[in-house]
Amino acid sequence: MKAEEGAGGYSETLLDHYRHPRNVGDVEGSAAVAQVGDPAHGDVLRFGMRIEGDQVIEARFRSFGCTAAIAAGSMATLMVTGKRLDEVERVSNQDVADALGGLPESKRHCSVLAEQAIREALRRWREAGAGETPCR
Ligand code: FES
Repeated sequence: MKAEEGAGGYSETLLDHYRHPRNVGDVEGSAAVAQVGDPAHGDVLRFGMRIEGDQVIEARFRSFGCTAAIAAGSMATLMVTGKRLDEVERVSNQDVADALGGLPESKRHCSVLAEQAIREALRRWREAGAGETPCR
């Protein structure tokens, strides 16, 4: 057992994010919102960001998945807030899993949901033209 390992093979960091998830909720009025996963299997992550200029100033999530999915959503909000968009685009599921102190192999897809949600939210935001500078 690793030093940081807690219940269920999860790290203490992960369990803390599960028990006390950060930034739960919705970002209203933003095009940078996406829901990924499969409701039929109960693995759903909704992720929203408020973007100003080149920076994410707020991120919120809702998860209808397992312990790891809730923790991954929570950690992902912290990992994108305050970051430039080019940095946000580089956040990977491995980064999220590492920040959580690792994930059991059977739970890897829970962090993949976080990466997918971030990418899809950015894609929607761009598709909506929300990042374009208005004509002067
Ligand atoms: S969301 Fe499916 S096992 Fe975690």
